[in-house]
Amino acid sequence: MSGTARARIFCCAGTPCLATDSEAVKKAFEALVGQTPDVEVRESGCIGLCGRAPMVRVESTDGSDALYESVTPDLVPRLVATLTEEASPPEQLLDQQTPFFTRQVRIVTANAGHIDPERIEDYLAVGGYEALNKAVTSSSPQEVVGEVTRSGLRGRGGAGFPTGVKWGLVARAEADQKYVICNGDEGDPGAYMDRAVMEGDPHRVLEGMAIAAYAVGASQGFIYVRGEYPVAIRRLQRAIRQAERQGVLGGRIFETPFQFRVDIRIGGGAFVCGEETALIASIEGGRGLPHPRPPYPAQAGLWAKPTLINNVETFASIAPIVMHGGAWYAQHGTEKSRGTKVFALAGKVNNTGLIEVPLGITVRDVVEQIGGGIVGGRPFKAMQTGGPSGGCVPASMLDLPMDYESLQQAGSIVGSGGLLVMDDTACMVDVARFYMDFCMHESCGKCIPCRAGTAEAVRILERITAGGGTHGDLERLEALCPYMQEASLCGLGQTAPNPVVSTLRYFRDEYLTHIDARQCPAGVCTMSALPSEAFRVGGRP
Ligand SMILES: Cc1cc2nc3c(=O)[nH]c(=O)nc-3n(C[C@H](O)[C@H](O)[C@H](O)COP(=O)(O)O)c2cc1C
Ligand code: SF4
Repeated sequence: MSGTARARIFCCAGTPCLATDSEAVKKAFEALVGQTPDVEVRESGCIGLCGRAPMVRVESTDGSDALYESVTPDLVPRLVATLTEEASPPEQLLDQQTPFFTRQVRIVTANAGHIDPERIEDYLAVGGYEALNKAVTSSSPQEVVGEVTRSGLRGRGGAGFPTGVKWGLVARAEADQKYVICNGDEGDPGAYMDRAVMEGDPHRVLEGMAIAAYAVGASQGFIYVRGEYPVAIRRLQRAIRQAERQGVLGGRIFETPFQFRVDIRIGGGAFVCGEETALIASIEGGRGLPHPRPPYPAQAGLWAKPTLINNVETFASIAPIVMHGGAWYAQHGTEKSRGTKVFALAGKVNNTGLIEVPLGITVRDVVEQIGGGIVGGRPFKAMQTGGPSGGCVPASMLDLPMDYESLQQAGSIVGSGGLLVMDDTACMVDVARFYMDFCMHESCGKCIPCRAGTAEAVRILERITAGGGTHGDLERLEALCPYMQEASLCGLGQTAPNPVVSTLRYFRDEYLTHIDARQCPAGVCTMSALPSEAFRVGGRP
């Protein structure tokens, strides 16, 4: 609580809340208490329970912290009354002792909902930029790299590469110029973790980038944000200006010789531009096409200079690691998957939204505890993790720990953090078709295994979901998938078959019912009465 404020009212201004008109709620608060000196009305980043937007948090100097869901402007007078009178709270008051809140560990999202992302003063008030100060004034670049290595942090953009190792590679590269890039392209369907972090705590991302720049010896950074994220872009632009004025970005940071500037580059919304080599080509002004590695960006990246590229969440994890130490961070998570991960929990659970949990939490805990169980008490069928590059974890694996190794062994991935929970009304063949269709449209077309492979896989999956599939189609799919995985040039084509492979592994019976009985067990697919030959393309068997 700053100054003499008796209460601070935070109206969530994350995109899901803005979409449900949290601005009208904020205006209603301002109209009622805007002139009251001891009540501040602010915006905040994503509070988390996005399925119950708009969310409002009311913090008082007496230490109370009340969260309200589904707030509408007409509810505002009642909420304000709770500040001054012994008024009973409305039913929109949330119990913060439920597992949705208590099972989360908030490190990356610690500030979201508690500070106004548009005010650097709020970030400074919660210890913002102290980690950067500590790094540049009392640690050597090698010590910073060492601390990040000790934390065990792995890149949150999908591949899970050890962050400290990557930083060490760029730090050791000899060059007159190095770059730091923050990957905020976030193209996975259903994923919005990075958007929430950029919108909700932009200074945290900038601070992580600046610490990284100091550690690897870079003086220029870029944030590549997809154009569909206008709120994130606006808040980052504002944050950069504020940080420069504050002297924490720009020249002579904290009165030291270290200098670091950050510019924003806006992407056009192509999924493949999130792939690091395509992203670099896009920043250089070329078409966003991937190229083979090596050379890796750490050796020859942006304008052929050594370049550190990390994900938004990876950078947002850095300040707490530097502040509290790598060992502190490493106490969360599992032996090989340290720390916490932000997930976008969607689908048929009662609590949908943005969650941050220690890696290694079980699927059961996420679905039943944090998610509050399946809507309407229906049976849990599967959880899709990792979006188009991931796979499906079936109900028989509810006790699977969600860490990099366990999910990979189960045929899925942690990925960037999209989680889609499905009940018995989901058709797993249709799910596989959806993700393959996405990859087909997003394939850049540069290499044949991906360009032709995704199109052929979609044709087969469409045939099966339309009731025209054969056993030969399954054989063709099973032959095609490893070919795409091994021969595609970049991660898009290499991982596009994953949802098909994993649904074939766990839900083969559903494929067979579509083929043999011409029925969709979940009742999702519309079966055509046409014989299977009618679906053949070019008369092929
Ligand atoms: C098709 C494709 C899309 C990707 N999209 C993203 C993205 O939106 N954000 C991201 O951070 N990484 C994305 N990646 C991974 C990046 O190539 C890169 O590994 C990552 O930015 C490195 O950061 P990290 O080490 O912090 O994870 C994508 C990879 C592929 C193959
Ligand atoms: S795998 Fe797909 S997206 Fe990647 S280069 Fe080849 S065609 Fe393009």
